[in-house]
Amino acid sequence: MHIAFAASECVPFSKTGGLADVVGALPRALAALGHQVSVYVPRYRQTKLTDPQTVVASVTIPFDDKYRFCSVVTAGSSAGVKFYFVDYPPYFDREALYGSPAGDYPDNAERFALFSRAVIEASKILGVPHVFHCHDWQSALVPILLRTLYAEDPAFRDVAIVFTIHNMGYQGLFPPDTLPLLTLPWDLLTISKMEFFGQVNFLKGALVYSDFVTTVSRKYSQEIQTTEYGFGLEGVLRDRAATVTGILNGVDYDEWSPQTDKFAVAKFSPQDVTGKLKCKQDLLQAFGVARADAKIPVIGIVSRFAAQKGFDLISQVMDRLAREEMIMVVLGSGDKPYEEMFQRLNKQYPNKIAVKVAYDNAIAHKIEAGADMFLMPSRYEPCGLNQIYSLKYGTVPIVRATGGLDDTIEPWDARTGKGTGFKFTDYTGEALLATVKQALLAYQDPSSWQTLMRNGMGRDFSWGASAREYGKVYERARQARISAHPGAADSKKEAVHG
Ligand code: ADP
Ligand code: GLC
Repeated sequence: MHIAFAASECVPFSKTGGLADVVGALPRALAALGHQVSVYVPRYRQTKLTDPQTVVASVTIPFDDKYRFCSVVTAGSSAGVKFYFVDYPPYFDREALYGSPAGDYPDNAERFALFSRAVIEASKILGVPHVFHCHDWQSALVPILLRTLYAEDPAFRDVAIVFTIHNMGYQGLFPPDTLPLLTLPWDLLTISKMEFFGQVNFLKGALVYSDFVTTVSRKYSQEIQTTEYGFGLEGVLRDRAATVTGILNGVDYDEWSPQTDKFAVAKFSPQDVTGKLKCKQDLLQAFGVARADAKIPVIGIVSRFAAQKGFDLISQVMDRLAREEMIMVVLGSGDKPYEEMFQRLNKQYPNKIAVKVAYDNAIAHKIEAGADMFLMPSRYEPCGLNQIYSLKYGTVPIVRATGGLDDTIEPWDARTGKGTGFKFTDYTGEALLATVKQALLAYQDPSSWQTLMRNGMGRDFSWGASAREYGKVYERARQARISAHPGAADSKKEAVHG
């Protein structure tokens, strides 16, 4: 089967969060199963390509008052996956992907509409896939356009669309006059299509028009059908419940393994974890706390700074957390209020909490390798990747039991010696404090702590199983397309599939 991914970020070409890790790794796992996979992403300033080749010199993108012309370049194939980049410097040659800490770029609707339309048009030249697999609101216009303006295009009649929600908190909400600006019909501004409290909602349109909707853990697929987690779209998802499914993200162990990690000063494995101590010293040095006693447990955080991540809970109980024997090392960037909060905590408790406000892949790896515990108190978490990386590094996760965090971490039971981490349910500072204390207490018993570490290191979250699940969803989406559109099977003869 030929699957074309459309997404706004992809490792190693661009990244702000876990979406990039998924779009970098899942296509390779699908190719390993024998599928043909193409990946379309924008070409940003941070996208570094060696020897880019132009494969489509000019794609016409209509806007209300003018046409814009972008091109598509390729970086060739890697592990059987073809990578294509939509090139339009006025939109993508910018400092960041989506905006600055002060807010989103004001023309994000135009930017990602151009991207989505370019993917559709380029695929007619580079190969129409059997399935478009789109991710988050930035590629939501692919399903919306295909099922509206492109509905009569014979090239796409039997093409199925799978849409993955990586985060319901980001929907792509724009004013109504975005529709004519993007040459989209006004009738999309109705409650059964893209209308959302008077605004145009890109994510909602994708949920309405895709054949199948997935999200990145089983628990999150259920949570988003409730008022608490649905961000206003729970009803739309409930209407589609039969075609909504959760597939847990895998992780790329070529990138995240203590046995091969190029950023870790020493390698280690479940058989021999002694190297982890060197990594801990190196980590403390990187954070300027080199003189700390190596016996003091280190709690790591690597995160986008956003309300989703639950850091307000830390601030609520930091005065009492600071009385515990521990050091917290924090790496993150994003929303200004959280950057300021962590900097303030660092000033107040310089011996307890070390902070780097930055986006730094090398330090992220050093934290995974060197910390003893990893804290993710998320308010909600569609999947979460860092807690899964942590398991592999024997860095014991402390998480709130939500979404993928709940699906991936099993509570430690010292009596049975089973479990991989610590979890709390209530979204309160008290619950977080009690659970961190529980972890710190468990750390005092080195031999059972080793068992706990090894339990996690032995877990396998590689992509193979999830890629097979996606394969099944693609098949079901194609079936759904054929039943929704009986002519689709016949049109296979006419359509040109690359
Ligand atoms: P999300 O996608 O919500 O940000 P995930 O846990 O799925 O959360 O993925 C986050 C990814 O981004 C991980 O690979 C993590 O290492 C990386 N990351 C997040 N913040 C930073 C940062 N400040 N520096 C380096 N890497 C980061
Ligand atoms: C999102 C989610 C995160 C998930 C990632 C990749 O950004 O916040 O939980 O792991 O996407 O699917």
